[in-house]
Amino acid sequence: MKLTFLGHAAIALQFGAHEVLVDPFLSGNPKAAVAAEALSPHSIVLTHAHADHVGDALPIAERCGATIVSSVEIVGKLQRDRGPQARGKARFLGANSGGRVTMPFGALRFTPAWHSSGFADGSYGGMPMGVVFEFGDLRIYHAGDTALFGDMALIGRHGLDLALLPIGGHFTMDPDEALEAVRLLRPRHVVPIHYGTFDLIEQDPLAFRDAVAALPEADVGGAVVHPLAPGEALEL
Ligand code: NI
Ligand code: MN
Repeated sequence: MKLTFLGHAAIALQFGAHEVLVDPFLSGNPKAAVAAEALSPHSIVLTHAHADHVGDALPIAERCGATIVSSVEIVGKLQRDRGPQARGKARFLGANSGGRVTMPFGALRFTPAWHSSGFADGSYGGMPMGVVFEFGDLRIYHAGDTALFGDMALIGRHGLDLALLPIGGHFTMDPDEALEAVRLLRPRHVVPIHYGTFDLIEQDPLAFRDAVAALPEADVGGAVVHPLAPGEALEL
């Protein structure tokens, strides 16, 4: 499994032959590592309806035939925006928190997230979500945008190889709250996301890494934080 950080909360996951894109906010993202036109994933997973997460999902999917997987409300809204005359190749799969969704690479399960999920035009986007990817024995959690919540302990109970956690603060957890999230989730690896894109969410990922490293191993299970620059990748 190869994970590439594309900037903000956008992640590309290469599971063998399958490429999955999460929250592809690239156009208008000052820290985007790639242009939307350069990506041709098989699936695009969206955690919630905010523009810095839905991003370029629809044009990418229309061009390359990717399946957009998200809440039934987000999928429904994108299909309405697209209109009945759409000639693109996008495919859609609606789901919801708690459900396990079979995917070509394995499976995913959407989790709760404490946030909001309205579209910019006021349309309802369903509940915000996180997602746990299952690829073989690997389990990867993308928390989406969220506050800290105690049920993260349940999300971590089957073991997580990697957790992508927002640390930007203001709209989501900050590094102090993300530190508590690591204690609840006990993942093997952590990649901080959703920081540094704008002034309001400026944070120091190296200080977060050091704070996690300073916790007793009994607390965090030896979790290692990997601050990635946009475009950097990690292989598991
Ligand atoms: Ni958001
Ligand atoms: Mn966001």
